[in-house]
Amino acid sequence: MTTLTINLPQTSYPLTIEPGSADNVLNYYQTNNCFVMITDEGVPPSVVERIQKQLNPVTTITLPSGESTKSIETYHRIVATLLKQNISKTTTLVALGGGVIGDLTGFVASTYYRGINYIQIPTTLLSMVDSSIGGKTAINMQNVKNVVGTFHHPSAVIIDPNLLNTLPNRHIANGMAEVIKMALIGDADFAKALLNDIPIPTLIERAIRIKKQIVEKDPRDTHERHLLNHGHTIAHAIEALEPNLLHGECVAIGMKKMAKGELYETLLDDLLTKYDLTIQCTLKKDQLYNHILHDKKIKHDTLNIALIKNVGKGYIKSIKIEDIKSYL
Ligand SMILES: NC(=O)c1ccc[n+]([C@@H]2O[C@H](COP(=O)([O-])OP(=O)(O)OC[C@H]3O[C@@H](n4cnc5c(N)ncnc54)[C@H](O)[C@@H]3O)[C@@H](O)[C@H]2O)c1
Repeated sequence: MTTLTINLPQTSYPLTIEPGSADNVLNYYQTNNCFVMITDEGVPPSVVERIQKQLNPVTTITLPSGESTKSIETYHRIVATLLKQNISKTTTLVALGGGVIGDLTGFVASTYYRGINYIQIPTTLLSMVDSSIGGKTAINMQNVKNVVGTFHHPSAVIIDPNLLNTLPNRHIANGMAEVIKMALIGDADFAKALLNDIPIPTLIERAIRIKKQIVEKDPRDTHERHLLNHGHTIAHAIEALEPNLLHGECVAIGMKKMAKGELYETLLDDLLTKYDLTIQCTLKKDQLYNHILHDKKIKHDTLNIALIKNVGKGYIKSIKIEDIKSYL
């Protein structure tokens, strides 16, 4: 078993990686609070039932699966349910699902009565290695991803790698894109080790250690944390223009474009091939550039991008927006 502590200026919380931990949730999070569980229809019912047996939640809110669930309408629906059930401040919300459920539940927890506790039980690889750590919560509005959100850290993150047994291969690959990204920006040995088969719990732990280090240095995403956006400027444009692609698939394309002509390009190619992430992007340069130009995050005429100096050594560079064209 590995338990890490995510240490932040205002708070800290335990994160456990342990096969079978979903069968002993209360070992990893003790409270007198009652629970409300939030999950989605894609999480296997047997998993939902197992957690319900242990936590005996006052209610379980099961939402449709998919990105469109991260909406103001769903937020409204959840708060209405909490109010109808007289759910008090001394309640812990349980996010049981992928990044969609984690981001949404975190957002509800951060706003309901100005903030209540929540725990994360991530069930996808992407949510285990990325979205359950770091306290970013969000919903989407008017087709803008994550435009309404908060920083609100979970009280505990409980990762049971066995829950991945039912996850479709495409979603495993989706999470692997973020794992490869973490390795490229933060750990050269890990990047090379990924060329071989690594046990999943080890792979999760090594990726999380990189994210943990970055988040602890820059919890509010003001500078260092931009490293986690490696490949993401391009990925966000692709995601908006190709809604059928998953986030990690777009990140894979984004990383590949950023690596053009760099020394680590061959390593990246080998990793993308090994983890089924060689995705073709049919979008034209102009389409991508026009989308990036209109991305609301861009201030003035510059853009912060995360580049790789050597494998395992990411850095942030401020460039003129038009200079992104050379990567597209
Ligand atoms: N907060 C952050 O720091 C952060 C970081 C990265 C991504 N995100 C967000 O994460 C979201 C994507 O997360 P995701 O990739 O986990 O997608 P997701 O939450 O949509 O889950 C993917 C699919 O897998 C299904 N599923 C979940 N667990 C399963 C299991 N064990 N077995 C079988 N099916 C299962 C879900 O029902 C869903 O259909 C995006 O909204 C993105 O913005 C947030």
